[in-house]
Amino acid sequence: MKKKSFLLGLVLILSAFFMAACGSTQSSNEAEAPAAEKSEEVAEGNESSEDVFSVATDTNFVPFESLNTETGEMEGFDIDLIKALADEAGIKVDIEAMEFDGVIAGMQTARFDIGIAGMTITEERAETIDFSDPYYDAGLTLAVKADNEDIKSEADLAGKKVATRSGTTSETYLTENHPDAELVPFPGIVEAYLELISGRVDAVMYDAPNVMYYVNTDAKGQLKTVGGLLQGEQYGIAFPQGSELVEPINEALKTLIENGTYDDIYEKWFGERPNGTTK
Ligand code: ARG
Repeated sequence: MKKKSFLLGLVLILSAFFMAACGSTQSSNEAEAPAAEKSEEVAEGNESSEDVFSVATDTNFVPFESLNTETGEMEGFDIDLIKALADEAGIKVDIEAMEFDGVIAGMQTARFDIGIAGMTITEERAETIDFSDPYYDAGLTLAVKADNEDIKSEADLAGKKVATRSGTTSETYLTENHPDAELVPFPGIVEAYLELISGRVDAVMYDAPNVMYYVNTDAKGQLKTVGGLLQGEQYGIAFPQGSELVEPINEALKTLIENGTYDDIYEKWFGERPNGTTK
């Protein structure tokens, strides 16, 4: 009996100490680590879905969006840009990666709030999707094997196998302008480049920034671009029709262009600022 009550007393004393210790840890945490508190708040905020907007992007379009296999994180120009735009507009975003077609469908069905995927603003798409102001000037170009002397420009595509990614503006361009070339569409552009390297297709047509990036990195020495820019295009951020986010995102884009943030992000991914200088 006596032993029991002693033990009980000990437990009570210990738990009193424990609680006091906890209390003091908590208050000193508050004083000393505001950053930790803050990030917790952000994490909690992300879970309450009300003010978090979903962003649909694609999985493979260097240097605009791709998965960093080491960190497991999405990265690229578009990823940095949408995060900066969200900060500037005072909204939170949750980014999800999918196939490019899924980004367009996600806007049409309003399953996602925002789409950013190096998406070209076209009249046809604008019939079912809203776009922000243009945020990047791009265009299409051709890649061939480094030792190819046959194809010097798009004028040489008749009878050739030309690969691209299905559902993109390159596919439309080839269908409309080169009916006498053999169009070989792939669900992913990297497959198209690999087919080109292995000689199973004669050329790849795709967005110039992506072609140039690939030609200068993974395919260095194996592929080259020919014929210059084929069709000027502009990328826009996509929204479901009638979205209330179009205006605030356009405002935020203007601000980021004026205050240099846009140029910083551009330089990070393209090695120079839009005007060709470096900081
Ligand atoms: N700019 C082209 C288009 O809009 C290709 C975009 C591909 N983007 C991507 N994230 N895979 O059709």
